[in-house]
Amino acid sequence: MKRKEALKVAAEKLPKKRFKHCQRVAETAEEMAEMFNADSSKAYLAGVLHDYSKYDDLAKMYQTVSSEGLDPELLEYKSEVLHGPIAAVKVKNKFGVSDIDVLKAISNHTSGAKQMGILEKIIFVADYIEPERSQPGVDDIRTIVYEEKNLDKAVYAITKRNIQHLLNKDQTIYHKTLECLNYYNMAKE
Ligand SMILES: [Fe+2]
Ligand SMILES: [Fe+2]
Repeated sequence: MKRKEALKVAAEKLPKKRFKHCQRVAETAEEMAEMFNADSSKAYLAGVLHDYSKYDDLAKMYQTVSSEGLDPELLEYKSEVLHGPIAAVKVKNKFGVSDIDVLKAISNHTSGAKQMGILEKIIFVADYIEPERSQPGVDDIRTIVYEEKNLDKAVYAITKRNIQHLLNKDQTIYHKTLECLNYYNMAKE
C-alpha cells in the first residue's frame, strides 16, 4: 500500500483529531527509522494505519478475535488493547497490507510484546512521544530516544508507566504487556 492511499483510507475512517495524531506518529516513526536504521517507508505506513480500528464497535472486534483466531484472552479486554490486533487484521484483509513487520507493529502498538522487532519498537514509542503528546514524563522518554538513542530503554519506561497507570485504576494487565515489561527490563542496559 502506498502512503498516499494509506493517508486517504485513514482520513476517511478516523475523526480528524485522531487522523492528525496518526500523521504525527507516521512522521515521528519515519524520523526514528532513519536514526535507528530501520525502513522509513514501512515506519510511515505503520504509523498512518496504527489506530485504524481505534473506534470500531467492540462487539464486532470480539467477532473478529474469534473469526481470525486471535488470542482468546483478548476477549477479556476492551478497545484500548484490542484496536492494535484488530487494525492489523483489517488492513491486511481490506487493503492487502502483507508486510509482516508493518502488521506486527500495528498489532502490538497497544500492548507491547517481548522480543519486538525494530519497527514494532519504533511505532510503540512514536505513538507515545509524537510532538503533540504532553503526558507527564514524556520528555524523559524523548531524552532516552533522541539523546541516549536507547529504544529498548524507552520501551521499558513507557511500559512501566502504562502498567503503573493501569494498576492505579485496578485494571487487569494483558499478558503481552507484562512480558514486554519483563523482557525490556532485562534488555534495556
Ligand atoms: Fe492506538
Ligand atoms: Fe495512537
